[in-house]
Order: sequence, then C-alpha cells, then structure tokens
Amino acid sequence: MSRGEPRSADGYRCQIALTAESPLQDRIADRLAEARERTLELVESLSEEQLNRVYSPILSPLAWDLGHIANFEELWLVQTIGDREPMRGELGQLYDAIENPRKIRNELPILRGDDLRSYMSEVRQRTLDVLDDLNLDETDDPILRDGFVYELILAHEYQHNETMLQLLQMVESYEPVRRDDGPASEPGSDGPDMVRVDGGSVQIGAGPNGYAYDNERPRHAVELAPFWIDRTPVTNGAFAQFVDETGAEPPEYWERDGEGGWTRTTMGRTEAVDPALPVIHVDWHQADAFATWAGKRLPTEFEWEAAALGADPERANLDQLAFGCAPAGALADGAADCGAVQMLGDVWEWTASDFERYPGFEAFPYPEYSEVFFGPEHKVLRGGAWASRRDVIRTSFRNWDLPQRSQIFSGLRCAREDR
Ligand SMILES: [Fe+2]
Repeated sequence: MSRGEPRSADGYRCQIALTAESPLQDRIADRLAEARERTLELVESLSEEQLNRVYSPILSPLAWDLGHIANFEELWLVQTIGDREPMRGELGQLYDAIENPRKIRNELPILRGDDLRSYMSEVRQRTLDVLDDLNLDETDDPILRDGFVYELILAHEYQHNETMLQLLQMVESYEPVRRDDGPASEPGSDGPDMVRVDGGSVQIGAGPNGYAYDNERPRHAVELAPFWIDRTPVTNGAFAQFVDETGAEPPEYWERDGEGGWTRTTMGRTEAVDPALPVIHVDWHQADAFATWAGKRLPTEFEWEAAALGADPERANLDQLAFGCAPAGALADGAADCGAVQMLGDVWEWTASDFERYPGFEAFPYPEYSEVFFGPEHKVLRGGAWASRRDVIRTSFRNWDLPQRSQIFSGLRCAREDR
C-alpha cells in the first residue's frame, strides 16, 4: 500500500508535559520494537545489492522503503511531537513519497548500507527519548490522545512491510528467515457457493473510538438491498477456467506449463498453480471480467463490509509469515456472521466501488493520507491479505489502488442480487 506523506510537519506543535512512564508508553515501545523486528526480518537474507536493486518501475528499492520508514518516524515522533530539529538536514526530501515517484527513487542519494542502519537506530533512540517525556494519559491533543500518532507510525511501518513483500515476491531465491506454514495447511470446508446477506440499514465505517484512518470515518448508515456473496474467495481453478474459455489475461506470475496447465513463479520458486487456493495478483479489470463471466458482479464496498460483519481477525491468514494463501474455505471458524469465510486475510478483495469520502469526512492528521486520492481513478479493496500485518486489518479498513495494478495481493469474491 503506497501512501502519501505530509510534505512538512511545520505548523504543528503540541504541548508536552513531563511525566513518569505509563503502561501505555511501555506498550507503545514494545510494539515499535516488534514492528521494527519484523521489518528487518523480512530483508535479513538479502544482500546490499538486492536491497538497492530496482525490480519494477512501480516499486521502490527496499533500501528506500527502509529509509522512508525511519524518516517518517523521525518526522512525526521526533520532529513533530518532540519539537526537535531534523537529524540529517534536508534528508526528508528524498523520502517524500509524493515528491519522489517510485521509478526515480534509486537515483536519489538515499541512505544505504551501514549509514542506513545507523540512521534507523538513531531515529528509534530519539523516538524512545521523546516517548519517555510525554504525558499521554492527560492530553487533549487529538494527535496524542490514546497514542494516536504512535498507531499512525506503527500502521505506516506495517503497510510498508506489505509493499516490501510485493517486491520480495520478485526477488530470485528469496528465502524468508522464518516461515509459518500453519494457515497454508488449514483444511478447506464444505458449504454453499454463495450466502445471503439480509441488507437493510447497515452501519458502515469505524466508530469514534479506537484507531482508524480518517477515510474510515465517520461511521454512517447505508441502506442495502438483500444480496448474495460468494462464501469463499474465487479460486485459481475457477480463474483458470475463465482464462481458458475467454482468452483473458492470466494473473501476474502465471505461465503456461506446456501441458494445458499453469505454473506460478514467486520468490524464485516455480510451482504448479494450486486450483484450491484463492486467486491472487489479478487487477480490477480481470476481477470485474471474471465476475461478469460467472454471471455475477463485484460487491460494492458497503456490501462487502456488511458481509464481513463478525469475521474474526484472529482466525484469518494475516501477518505475513505463511507467505501464501490458505485453501479457499479454510479457517471456517473465523467466518463472518453471514457464513462467508476468509473475508479477512488471504487476498485483498476488489470491490465495485470508487474510493470516495464518507459523508462528513474530515482529513486527519494530514490530507495526503487519503484526501488527495479520493475520486473515480482508484478502486477500493477490502479485507487484507496474507501479506498484511494483523494489527492493521479490520472490517472497516479501506485499501485503494489503480484498477490496472496486479502486483498487489489482490483477488476477489463475487456478489449478485437477491432473486
Ligand atoms: Fe509511506
């Protein structure tokens, strides 16, 4: 997930009071450490050359992501709330995601090698110094209340982990240092192809409390007609049949095996396409065409959210370490109330909806996160993928991307009218 960043934090200064460390501060420090551990673990097996190589014009070299993660942390957790000067002068300009399109990021004098590693740890040390001095329990400042800005920076690092995995899929012979095969070996489940959702007046979006992005708010009622939705994500088997019958483009990373079937090459491994797994790496046009071919349609994002009610994020293939999907129908004990499984995790699901503001939307804490992306050029995806960290995924979470993108971990499930 690529996100814009603020051009500058100027103009924002908050009041900081000295206090003893609170349990909230301890929890924040632990979570920051865990997030960084995961980031570094993802790239641990790579050479310096691999970290700096451009694998795709639409993805940053990994070294840029690492510097950007640390620089974004410095901007918010050190400069903005700690009121400190930038550590490395104009460095932030190199890591501004809006000013520097991905295809030119490797030409910039970004930090590399030991210099990059020491910048990351120096920023972290200052972050912890600032955190020590904050009074998070007695603040009216919306950026600090309930540790909001720390949630923002954690979510940012989690989401960059997923972007990094988009690139890691292209790295020849990438071998993660740790792998959890649990969800990948979960059994499927039997059930109807589609389940019915009653509709009616449905509450959409995140409530006023707890962490959520500005684009998930405010929570509001939407009137939905009853509809049906696929019980599982669309499988590789079904998508292969669609490709064979229509001559449509196959998903990213698929190639003919010469015997009428398909292979898939990611992370330097070529394997036969498993028909039981959810299809992944399809763009919006492919998803939409599949749904039409199947006599169905893509759900709107509101239908998707209504169908996802009750889905259990703890029983979902999230958090990266499986490095692939569970079979369609797996993790049935985490099903949504309507009976649909895998609403969360495995693949991001394309919806029919454009990325638009909710009624009463207010940009917070900066317009470059969501507001500049609203409009018909971006389509909404829901639910998170195996490559998403668990702490960033919830049923109200809205991801968005250009309809032609397929390097993202995107699949689909179909809907149809109640008839
Ligand atoms: Fe970013």
